[in-house]
Amino acid sequence: MHFLVTGGTGFIGQAFVKHAIKERHTITILSRGKHESCESIEFIRDLEQIADNHRIDAIVNLAGAPLGDKRWSDSYKTQLIESRLETTRRVIKLCDRLMKRPSVILNASAIGYYGSRGDDILTEDSTAGDNFSSKLCQDWEALSNKLGCPDTRVCNLRFGVVFGRSGGALKQLSQSFRFKIGTQIGEGNQWMSWIHLTDAIRAMSFLVEREGLKGTFNITSPYPTKVGRLSTMIGEKLPVIFHLVIPSALVKLIFGEMATELLLSSQRVLPNALSEAGFNFAYAELDSALTEALVEA
Ligand SMILES: NC(=O)c1ccc[n+]([C@@H]2O[C@H](COP(=O)([O-])OP(=O)(O)OC[C@H]3O[C@@H](n4cnc5c(N)ncnc54)[C@H](OP(=O)(O)O)[C@@H]3O)[C@@H](O)[C@H]2O)c1
Repeated sequence: MHFLVTGGTGFIGQAFVKHAIKERHTITILSRGKHESCESIEFIRDLEQIADNHRIDAIVNLAGAPLGDKRWSDSYKTQLIESRLETTRRVIKLCDRLMKRPSVILNASAIGYYGSRGDDILTEDSTAGDNFSSKLCQDWEALSNKLGCPDTRVCNLRFGVVFGRSGGALKQLSQSFRFKIGTQIGEGNQWMSWIHLTDAIRAMSFLVEREGLKGTFNITSPYPTKVGRLSTMIGEKLPVIFHLVIPSALVKLIFGEMATELLLSSQRVLPNALSEAGFNFAYAELDSALTEALVEA
């Protein structure tokens, strides 16, 4: 197959591309950076570089400015929105002019869709939240759904927090443990729905390959955890001399709205649609996922 991947240089994108190449697929990556193309990967900086008769079997749309890197000023919030929606509008424009439309589109979204919901169990049928990140996910999904047509199925991927060796949240969360200081963000009662990077990529391939599947998919392990337990378990794998709890009020003071929506929010999400479709997780349990993901890359 030939894939177009936006955000193919990122944490999830790189792993997806590596996997696709192993499976002998070819890739076009849309990137703002300068990269050397090779036999199986072509880098482009603009979707206009793709000819109308180019064969694209599948599109994986991941591009977007990072949500967890800094405080959300008003101008950064605009960047968070526009980096995602504008790329997706360009993908729509591309699909409208391609002589043959791709058969499947995987569009990133996030469990941020649900907002912060305490102990509620959340599935794909649960209602949306009403904070900034929830509205961003809703707008992104609404736009990607416009790509759906009889020839093209759209899968919106509500990623949980992706754990992998090469980057992402776990690398940041475990950094202090490597210096023997355990840290926990907030009081630890908030739920975190996570997925191992290997399973995120396996789920993406599964959705590409299973022709009948479309709609919304929570890309999370079946066993979400409370943040306190996560912290304790990281400490068991990377033993510490002492353990710091960073109070919610301080986290909010430092990181503002980003803290409330990402670091302290509680989302107990289940991957019902994936499970019903017969997907099997390689790292369903937190213990095995952490054992693998905490080995230094
Ligand atoms: N990782 C997670 O735990 C997680 C959880 C939930 C949802 N997601 C979503 O899944 C997607 C992929 O996640 P990721 O962790 O792989 O993200 P990532 O590592 O931050 O990579 C995102 C990619 O988007 C492109 N990008 C960055 N800023 C951009 C901008 N201002 N305009 C256009 N493109 C920009 C970059 O590609 P170039 O520099 O090559 O242009 C980058 O490689 C993201 O949209 C993210 O919000 C991720």
